[in-house]
Amino acid sequence: MKEELRALKEKALSEVKMADSLELLKELRIKYLGRKGPMTEILRGIGKLMPNERPQIGQIVNEIKNILETEINKKTVFWEQKALEDKLSNEKVDISLTGRKHREGHLHPVTLTMRKIKKIFMCMGFDVMEGPEIENDYYNFEALNLPQDHPARDMQDTFYITNEFLLRTQTSPVQVRTMQSRESNTTGRVIAPGTVYRCDYDATHSPMFHQVEGLLVDKDISLADLKGTLELFLREMFGSSVKIRLRPSYFPFTEPSAEVDISCVMCGGKGCRVCKNSGWLEILGSGMVHPNVLRMSGYNPETMSGFAFGLGVERIAMLKYGIDDLRLFFENDLRFIRQFK
Ligand code: DAH
Repeated sequence: MKEELRALKEKALSEVKMADSLELLKELRIKYLGRKGPMTEILRGIGKLMPNERPQIGQIVNEIKNILETEINKKTVFWEQKALEDKLSNEKVDISLTGRKHREGHLHPVTLTMRKIKKIFMCMGFDVMEGPEIENDYYNFEALNLPQDHPARDMQDTFYITNEFLLRTQTSPVQVRTMQSRESNTTGRVIAPGTVYRCDYDATHSPMFHQVEGLLVDKDISLADLKGTLELFLREMFGSSVKIRLRPSYFPFTEPSAEVDISCVMCGGKGCRVCKNSGWLEILGSGMVHPNVLRMSGYNPETMSGFAFGLGVERIAMLKYGIDDLRLFFENDLRFIRQFK
């Protein structure tokens, strides 16, 4: 019996010694020290032994159990430690590795220009209004003194959604919407920035572009007010040396109407390729609000007067940044866009 026990102890110890994982150690613990293991078996059958052998065998079995337990515990601690170390070294963050640089985004040149325009007008006391991009025929044309079949409708061909609804060709409808939303004959000054749409595509036109509409209504407003306001705006935008001139023009919603030019920002007025040697650049349309428009908006043209203007944001951005193709703004080529950081 003692021999058997010694052999069992040797076998168990060598197995524990060889065990190289926590799972194996767990298995060995169950195998040798568990309820169905040989030690428990022997202790359970101890009654069958000779009475004088019983205490000795009992003692030996307990000793073996203790030794095995100690060995298994020791090795378990060892492998647990090892597992922890492996984990720590595998999950280590190598702080010596250079990081990947975050590219900082920035605003699009059209947004930058739009913000600058808004800021200048807000400094002059203009409120910012918005209107729908899907507009109805009435606001886009009729209420702006462009009835059905008016030949001037041909100047602005757009995308119709139904016979009645279209993508607005201009931000001018916001003039009418603003006046209608206020009590009749209320004075005020507003700008209306936004996206507009036309069937056009070349170096200076894109089917979608941005406009800022302006409207000022009050008593006794004259062309001088219009000129002064626009001159202030254009000097803020392009520099104080910029000169402006008004040229008679035609817009159905203003009378009289004027095209506003600035002295060429490229050559200072001497004449160059950009201004086609004229020294001037056409920059926006404007005029005195037509009595019909005032009337249709619920205002009294006998007592109230106003001026309006409309400018293309991309056109201003092109001149400001010296860009010769408007389509570049919308191609989203990062080599172009990143130059405006
Ligand atoms: N709506 C015109 C356009 O899209 C621009 C314009 C011209 C607006 C004269 C005005 C104006 O308010 O008075 O071409």
